[in-house]
Amino acid sequence: MRIAEIAARAPVIPVLTVERPAEAVPLARALVAGGLPVLEITLRTEAALEALKRIATEVPDAIVGAGTVLNEAQLEAAERAGARFVVSPGCTAALARAAVESGMPFLPGVQTVSEAMAAREHGFELLKFFPADMSGGIGWLKAVGAPLAGLRFCPTGGVNAETAPGYLALPNVACVGGSWVAPKDAVAAGDWARIEGLAATAAGMKRP
Ligand code: 3PG
Repeated sequence: MRIAEIAARAPVIPVLTVERPAEAVPLARALVAGGLPVLEITLRTEAALEALKRIATEVPDAIVGAGTVLNEAQLEAAERAGARFVVSPGCTAALARAAVESGMPFLPGVQTVSEAMAAREHGFELLKFFPADMSGGIGWLKAVGAPLAGLRFCPTGGVNAETAPGYLALPNVACVGGSWVAPKDAVAAGDWARIEGLAATAAGMKRP
């Protein structure tokens, strides 16, 4: 599956920072049951790769990827753990080359027009706009629509249930990413019903 096909599967990609491997599978099942099959596990915790592995093997309806991939070594580790795509908060030439060579679907992060142009030079046309809310948000995406025609974005960072629909209404937004569908307190309490409800609301958000 190409990254554009993965992004087309749901309007919202939950960004998940898993603290305990045991919570990974029930969390993934709740999100998938709510209608969000594309899941990003950030490589920011000790538990992240094990969480990814468990979801990849035990939740077949999930399309699980790795987030916060900063370099080639992390890309390879994510691939070994069963990631179907990888996401980075920004992008270097080395990481872009490694992603192209690996054939792994890749969503590179950009924050500026020049970074978006550089990503396109490496062949990427769907980009993570990060951190979206504090970098101009909807206004930035509208402003770059004409000059960066052909590029589409997954705004992430400070996006929430209230602001997501406004982003999703833009023609150059493919989907949005965010952690709001899996609040830390709900995960810690094992409140999977609440998470499924938040996922269902997010899954119902319309794209043009
Ligand atoms: C990410 O890694 O993409 C962000 O931490 C997600 O941002 P959010 O927590 O503000 O949704």
